[in-house]
Amino acid sequence: MLRLRRCAAVMIDVREDAEVDLASLLTGGAPIRRTQSFKAIAAHLDAEVAVDPREIAALGTLSAEVYALPDDEAAADALASLWRKRLAIADTDDDDAARADAAVRSAHWRGLSAIAHRHSRWSGVFTPDTDPDSYARSLSGLVARLGQPPEAAPQRGDREGRTMLPRPAGSGVNDLLRGRATCRNFDRGRPLPLEVAASLLHGVFGAQHAVTVPAGAEVLKKLSPSGGGLHPTEAYVLALDIAGLAPGFWHYRSKDHALDPVRMMPAAELREFALRALAGQDWFADAPMLVVHACRFERSFWKYRQHAKAYRAVILDIGHLSQTAYLLATELGLGAFVTAAINEADLERVLGLDPMREGPLAISGFGYRSAAQTHPEFDPAHAVWERDGEA
Ligand SMILES: Cc1cc2nc3c(=O)[nH]c(=O)nc-3n(C[C@H](O)[C@H](O)[C@H](O)COP(=O)(O)O)c2cc1C
Repeated sequence: MLRLRRCAAVMIDVREDAEVDLASLLTGGAPIRRTQSFKAIAAHLDAEVAVDPREIAALGTLSAEVYALPDDEAAADALASLWRKRLAIADTDDDDAARADAAVRSAHWRGLSAIAHRHSRWSGVFTPDTDPDSYARSLSGLVARLGQPPEAAPQRGDREGRTMLPRPAGSGVNDLLRGRATCRNFDRGRPLPLEVAASLLHGVFGAQHAVTVPAGAEVLKKLSPSGGGLHPTEAYVLALDIAGLAPGFWHYRSKDHALDPVRMMPAAELREFALRALAGQDWFADAPMLVVHACRFERSFWKYRQHAKAYRAVILDIGHLSQTAYLLATELGLGAFVTAAINEADLERVLGLDPMREGPLAISGFGYRSAAQTHPEFDPAHAVWERDGEA
């Protein structure tokens, strides 16, 4: 007999499938047959698991913390089935599921956030936006399919009492902000000089100072804010075409301002992998340098244990890093982008990451703009293309 406990975080999703019921239709009955089913969605399993009401009831008898011998004979079959489906873990288990469940626990995930994180990861997805025939390729296509979106700028307060505001005078930061536009046209033949890559990495991810508190913990000062000052985001560089740097995956050591090799790869193979990591977005895959933002959840959640806001905060951190990256790239005369449409699970495999301890959440990319504008960019004021004079 196994001593069991249930996995750390699991939700039961009630599904409804609709099928045309021809037999019923021909005899004047309801044309659609609806059937309900249950899926267990767990923070330690990539796949959803079909469960029945007996298994759901049995799951409710198990402690999440304490391993125990089942004492309800009637539920023994259902518990054994939960164990086979890896929703119940035995104290002697040492397989992938048991290790993944241990990672959810030791990283102090809040259950719902953990489930949302694991099940929003992609592997092998090519986004519909990359299909030339997809309605999602243009705003007009989207409107034709989905109708008008909610208005761009909503009216909320009392219009009668409106106060018009003075327009801000120009400034260096304002000019920089105006000169930023997401780049979807990189010059594939132009490598990124190592010192330019280094400058970006130093500004976006580099530790400007390191302070050790008397209790021993080290605090890093960086140029972007970070929830709890913990800076949990690691940078993995895909060196596709950086002068003087072998193609492959490098980890940026923020304290030392150095790149450590993680996995080298022939350039062509790395390009292919980059396209896959970017979910098929070929307009981004031409960039000579990609940076994977991977969050070390266990560092942030060390402080924010099972915290309702913690997962939101680490994602916000990456938004700040991305904007810092955009601005520094703009100042350096580079094009930049960020995307969350990535195949995280494929990246985790290559980088050897456990997604519940350290997970990729976004990719930024950098490089010189190409003269040709093949893919659309959003620069209505022509602050980018006319200023550069290269378009
Ligand atoms: C979180 C986030 C995710 C994004 N993901 C994508 C993406 O998957 N593909 C893409 O082409 N652009 C992506 N973008 C870029 C936006 O499309 C772009 O910011 C927007 O169109 C406004 O253009 P601008 O950045 O030039 O002002 C993303 C931007 C952000 C902030």
